[in-house]
Amino acid sequence: VPAPIVAPSILAADFARLAEEVHAVESTADWLHVDVMDNHFVPNLTIGLPVVQSLLAVTALPFDVHLMIEDPRRWAPSYADAGAYNVTFHAEACDNPVSLAKDLRSAGAKAGLAIDRDTPIEPYLDLLPSFDTLLIMTIKAGFGGQRFIPELLDKVRAARRHADAGHLELRIEVDGGIAADTIEQAAVAGADAFVAGTAVYAAADPATAVTQLRQLAQR
Ligand code: DX5
Ligand code: ZN
Repeated sequence: VPAPIVAPSILAADFARLAEEVHAVESTADWLHVDVMDNHFVPNLTIGLPVVQSLLAVTALPFDVHLMIEDPRRWAPSYADAGAYNVTFHAEACDNPVSLAKDLRSAGAKAGLAIDRDTPIEPYLDLLPSFDTLLIMTIKAGFGGQRFIPELLDKVRAARRHADAGHLELRIEVDGGIAADTIEQAAVAGADAFVAGTAVYAAADPATAVTQLRQLAQR
């Protein structure tokens, strides 16, 4: 079992002090989770490529870019070119996910497929060899600070069974409401990468919060 990955989400950070907020988790985080929203795919708007490029320049942390945007083919490769470690786009927003995954890998990034709350996992299981990361939302995508939906872990279990049976090298990531009281059940279900926004940035010591979450996820 690979060591669990904890990816603090800067959506919960202070956007006026982004570099400092990144540095606050640098010593303990595995990845930095960056939520890009376009007010079309989801009803919220965050940051885009220029801000991500600037942040990439101030840290060595691998960037886990979560694109909650329409037409990801238009933007996803630019994040890979900019130096993002992993670029994840939504299945609901893309009619040829395998082709975009290929392009991301050619651009030197890991490719991630995200599955929103209301989307079943089964139609996508056979696409997983083309991906490095499968992000299963444990809320409806769009806002931080929502309550974890345990029923969505059924999708994690199905994906874990499929990945293990096929010996896939795939990270199964969960995003939404991950905190000290929810991360263990997600790990037991088979997730091995964990996004946490509020649970990290609302903590008195964000770096310690990351370490504590990783310990709880250890199996
Ligand atoms: C929401 C984002 C999440 C968000 C999670 O759509 O994808 O990454 O930051 O926030 P918490 O951990 O507060 O649920
Ligand atoms: Zn996210």
